[in-house]
Amino acid sequence: MGVSGVDLSERFFDVSLLLWCCALLFLTQRGLCSAYVPMMMVVFPLASKLLLTKHFRARGASLQYSVLYLMGLAVPYVHIMFLIWVVFEIFTPILGRSGTEIPPDVVMASLITLATVILSSYLMHFIYLSCSTKRILAGLGSVFVLMFVLVCCGLFFPYSADPSSPRPKRVFVQHSTRVFHAPDGSVEGSDSGLWINSLDYGGMQHITPHVPHVNDSIRTRCSDRLPYCGFPWFLPVKFLVKKSWYLPAPAVSPQAPLEFQLLSRQVTEWGTVKMSFEVKGPSHMSLYLRPESGASLIGWSFGDGTPQFDLSGEYFIFYSHGLDAPAWSFWFEIQPSRSSDAPPDEGLISLAISSHYFFGPDRRSEPLESLLKKFPAWAFPSSWVSTYHMYRY
Ligand SMILES: *[C@@H]1O[C@H](CO)[C@@H](O)[C@H](O)[C@H]1NC(C)=O
Repeated sequence: MGVSGVDLSERFFDVSLLLWCCALLFLTQRGLCSAYVPMMMVVFPLASKLLLTKHFRARGASLQYSVLYLMGLAVPYVHIMFLIWVVFEIFTPILGRSGTEIPPDVVMASLITLATVILSSYLMHFIYLSCSTKRILAGLGSVFVLMFVLVCCGLFFPYSADPSSPRPKRVFVQHSTRVFHAPDGSVEGSDSGLWINSLDYGGMQHITPHVPHVNDSIRTRCSDRLPYCGFPWFLPVKFLVKKSWYLPAPAVSPQAPLEFQLLSRQVTEWGTVKMSFEVKGPSHMSLYLRPESGASLIGWSFGDGTPQFDLSGEYFIFYSHGLDAPAWSFWFEIQPSRSSDAPPDEGLISLAISSHYFFGPDRRSEPLESLLKKFPAWAFPSSWVSTYHMYRY
């Protein structure tokens, strides 16, 4: 016992210095140029501390000492505050379109905590120099409680249509018709609707009061048995966007419908099945491949010829072409299941192809327009017409 506040304060300064030295050593050893940041955080505080030691020994922690010390810290602090500002400028807008699975509050809270720890590292020891530690802690504690209460009351509305500081609610609305084909080619089922996806964690919670039709009674789940959930995904982001809404609507009727056909199916000498296809459709299409259990995709006409699957073992291909392009033809090769107990009627692969009508008269539809009219001003829906055709071979 008997450690004075001044000693404690020196020790806290040394700890911060040591931590920044560790960061400096680590980044230098890695050969990273960003080592200049911890370098500034070592050199400036250490220099000001050493220059002020005599002053400090003689007169203790006076106001003059504190001001001189803070001036010594100014250069690295201003620079670090700029870097932190850049981090927030990048991450805040990204969290408005990072999908329904990442809670932005948690990410922001972590960033703010990290920024506070970094900024307070050389200021911490001031607490031990002040006459009353309790008063400082009470002040900081009440700021925390005040902010906590304000945040919990939900006083802050997340979106804004104000052009000087826009905070849009990003939504994808796709008017789609889905057609499911049986292995023999006949139509097994079909439906149509407005498929709504939220690009942020909030889902439809703020939209429902304005558009009562879009509520949780039309929530739809990802179907594991259909390629890419059974919906016309435009981006391969089904891991990030897991909450969707599907509002029943009449079928879409684009003037240039998708034409899809199996050109050939042959069993190769080495026992694999090679299928080739031809598609005529709009400028943007996506293809989803889902080999049935046991079967595997061993080659295709895309990229370097090696199929690349995503986390769920499915394949996503995005295709776009200019206005005057020949029909899209492609092939792939499947290795059927080697074990004989796989049911023969199950087929080798489920394939789905989506068309996306992003422009021209085909992009619009009456149900889409009437839904979009109901959205509030701060919502920014991107909308288009899509189709989804599923086949099994
Ligand atoms: C929820 O949506 C369904 C279907 O759109 C609608 O029939 C129902 O009235 C809505 N519920 C409320 C409370 O608005």
